[in-house]
Amino acid sequence: MPPPLSSPAPSPSLPCFLSLLSLFFSLVSSSPNSPITLSLSASKPSPPPDPYRNLRHLVSASLIRARHLKNPKNTPTSTTPLFTHSYGAYSIPLSFGTPPQTLPLIMDTGSDLVWFPCTHRYVCRNCSFSTSNPSSNIPSFIPKSSSSSKVLSCVNPKCGWIHGSKVQSRCRDCEPTSPNCTQICPPYIIFYGSGITGGIMLSETLDLPGKGIPDFIVGCSVLSTRQPAGISGFGRGPPSLPSQLGLKKFSYCLLSRRYDDTTESSSLVLDGESDSGEKTAGLNYTPFVQNPKVAGKYAFSVYYYLGLRYITVGGKHVKIPYKYLIPGADGDGGTIIDSGTTFTYMKGEIFELVATEFEKQVQSKRATEVEGITGLRPCFNISGLKTPSFPELTLKFKGGAEMELPLTNYVAFLGGDDVVCLTIVTDGVAGKEFAGGPAIILGNFQQQNFYVEYDLRNERLGFRRQSCK
Ligand SMILES: *[C@@H]1O[C@H](CO)[C@@H](O)[C@H](O)[C@H]1NC(C)=O
Ligand SMILES: *[C@@H]1O[C@H](CO)[C@@H](O)[C@H](O)[C@H]1NC(C)=O
Ligand SMILES: *[C@@H]1O[C@H](CO)[C@@H](O)[C@H](O)[C@H]1NC(C)=O
Repeated sequence: MPPPLSSPAPSPSLPCFLSLLSLFFSLVSSSPNSPITLSLSASKPSPPPDPYRNLRHLVSASLIRARHLKNPKNTPTSTTPLFTHSYGAYSIPLSFGTPPQTLPLIMDTGSDLVWFPCTHRYVCRNCSFSTSNPSSNIPSFIPKSSSSSKVLSCVNPKCGWIHGSKVQSRCRDCEPTSPNCTQICPPYIIFYGSGITGGIMLSETLDLPGKGIPDFIVGCSVLSTRQPAGISGFGRGPPSLPSQLGLKKFSYCLLSRRYDDTTESSSLVLDGESDSGEKTAGLNYTPFVQNPKVAGKYAFSVYYYLGLRYITVGGKHVKIPYKYLIPGADGDGGTIIDSGTTFTYMKGEIFELVATEFEKQVQSKRATEVEGITGLRPCFNISGLKTPSFPELTLKFKGGAEMELPLTNYVAFLGGDDVVCLTIVTDGVAGKEFAGGPAIILGNFQQQNFYVEYDLRNERLGFRRQSCK
């Protein structure tokens, strides 16, 4: 999911969405004083065939408790397999409830809510993301099959994570004089770059290998558009998975996109106990840059900002105007790393500098037709070249850390390998540029076969090239 780059405008279908949502809630909680344990209507549609069952089976079978973590103190950690998908994201299986129900959730460092498709009534519009099985259904969590599902109460301070601390004033039925208030936390609606999800907040048990985490706050989404699965937010906000678990660090290795939709996986490591300031052997570190604090731009506080200094193309420095490198007082600018974005995004002016450098250095003729079809640029026709070569691309960060990208992380081969295209995207070419937000978003395509560690305790990002298989 590309993070929302600016406050997203409600889509035209929002009124409809909202009315469906309120219809749903009128079904679920017919009176504000109904019990807070979620109990859905008695009508029981037979569950759709579950195409993810094999995946889930694989998931539980392969929940590896003790894949190694490069941790000098050998502290307990949990490791979760990470799968790559043709729709451009990576998912992890997470188990919630009692008994546990396992669902694939997209690992997204660019957002902070954890939510899953929920109930037999889950409705998702434009959600056929499976290329192998376009009619596949998205598996849902069934709260009524879990004895630990509780609807979050309006007066629970965690309700404010989603709605802000002022939400309590909206808990009309929860005056201080009525301590037994059962009003639920109001429904949420979350906008992503290309879709929406909405539902109600649950308190559930998150079942990690070796331990259950009670009272984990998770969104039970009943309506979505353009969502291939649920999302596990790994950003900085209080509802994110790392925040709720109090992780000291987490790390992942993103499998090559060659393994899209296969049963191959790499791992995501959640480390809650590492308390040292020690670096992991072999990693290059760069400090996280402080998040911009701008009223009304909550999302910026969720991202992981990096201090990108400059980019080299074939060894040549591409100097990025300083004003884009550091977020300004308005919160705009800067670079973030985002596991939920596929291709790295660069603001027009930065992209042009980089693209122009590639055009200067690559002698082959431009494949403009392919550029038109794919939207990628520049593309070159390298057919007939005996030893086609492409300039190296390196990102240089504050503190000296360099990310030297393997070729497969920044080009796509097309037309029987006759054509290569740079897999970095920009806007503002065909249409208007997105206003505001980070100037550069380092996407997951560029992170393939890198081991990436988010050292939250020491506020830094570590990485090294590594085969993730
Ligand atoms: C689904 O996608 C189609 C084609 O992109 C679009 O016309 C339609 O409005 C979308 N429907 C919803 C509910 O988003
Ligand atoms: C709240 O619930 C408790 C225990 O169920 C009960 O004893 C008490 O009378 C209730 N208070 C109110 C104001 O309803
Ligand atoms: C690439 O160039 C060759 C030779 O000029 C041409 O035959 C081929 O069609 C081109 N391929 C594409 C995809 O444009």
